[in-house]
Amino acid sequence: MAYCSRIIGTGSHLPDQIMTNAQLVETLDTTDEWIVERTGIRERRIAREGESTSALAFQAAENALEATDLTAQDVDLVIVATTTPDNTFPSTATKVQAMLGMDGGAAFDVQAVCSGFIYALSVADNFIRAGQAKTVLVIGAEVMTRILDWSDRATCVLFGDGAGAVVLQAQEIEEGEQLGILSTHLHSDGKLRDLLYVDGGPGTSGNVGHLRMLGREVFRHAVTNLAAVVGEAMEANGLTQDDIDWLVPHQANKRILDGTARKLGLSEDQVVVTVDRHANTSAASVPLALDEAVRDGRIQPGQLVLMEAMGGGLTWGAALVRW
Ligand code: ACO
Repeated sequence: MAYCSRIIGTGSHLPDQIMTNAQLVETLDTTDEWIVERTGIRERRIAREGESTSALAFQAAENALEATDLTAQDVDLVIVATTTPDNTFPSTATKVQAMLGMDGGAAFDVQAVCSGFIYALSVADNFIRAGQAKTVLVIGAEVMTRILDWSDRATCVLFGDGAGAVVLQAQEIEEGEQLGILSTHLHSDGKLRDLLYVDGGPGTSGNVGHLRMLGREVFRHAVTNLAAVVGEAMEANGLTQDDIDWLVPHQANKRILDGTARKLGLSEDQVVVTVDRHANTSAASVPLALDEAVRDGRIQPGQLVLMEAMGGGLTWGAALVRW
């Protein structure tokens, strides 16, 4: 007997405050047409003062748990993927653990920027396969709008805030049976870290800093790296792109989503898109999109779901799931 990880519940949470492109135009030298044409983004959510990453993460986690018959006491591991933690320490995950009222288990954060959720899912899946955890909450939560330079029009129009979560549970399977998370694939190339970074931090300047990005370079690497890691995931499972039912990609830019879908031979309606309403919510974007497609009934049991992401580091990865 072996163990696989099943996603038994999904949840998400968005701040209620909406900022449209038209509102941005009031204070920034940009246009709705430029933003929509280059990125597909029409609006984004902005956390209110006092609305923290842990608060968004907690709501998403509660929603995910409500979709199952479990309570927080059944969870033995909480992993929060975030690049905007509440504090330098303790981890945001330990704060969420306390907010959930958990008396036991372990909690820690994972930092891989926009690939954070895929990284956290991979860590959780490996804990379950190793028999070290039975029920894991994996959360992606961000308040990216707090680390933006609002005078830099090339970056500040691109990001938003939010959180998404999944509950993973160990399930016994026969050797070779393809169920739940089939495989995860992680990569990074630290030589490319200057393409997308924050110019501050507790170990350098002591200040939080602001997000900096060479957008065109990031774009170029995104399309190539994502196609490669998707190919790797399909090959590892003896599947082809024709087997994919749904692509749930990191939501950075509609043009990257279209490019990846084209390379995979997927039609537009097989791609879950939220970038128009959420913008880029970094580690939260994949679980936010996943929750939407699960709740509106698009994703059905037995279907093959491919998740992928790329972000600062550069980091990138993919996860293939038989739902
Ligand atoms: N409004 C109007 N004009 C703008 C804006 C804006 N908001 N931003 C930039 N421009 C201008 C530039 O100043 C430039 O003008 P110039 O030609 O007079 O110098 C022109 O538009 C073109 O700028 P580029 O940066 O070359 O534009 P590009 O077509 O590459 O689009 C974009 C920029 C949307 C950022 C694109 O490169 C992109 O999406 N890259 C990927 C970014 C991404 O996915 N990042 C997230 C990765 S994940 C993570 O970890 C965060």
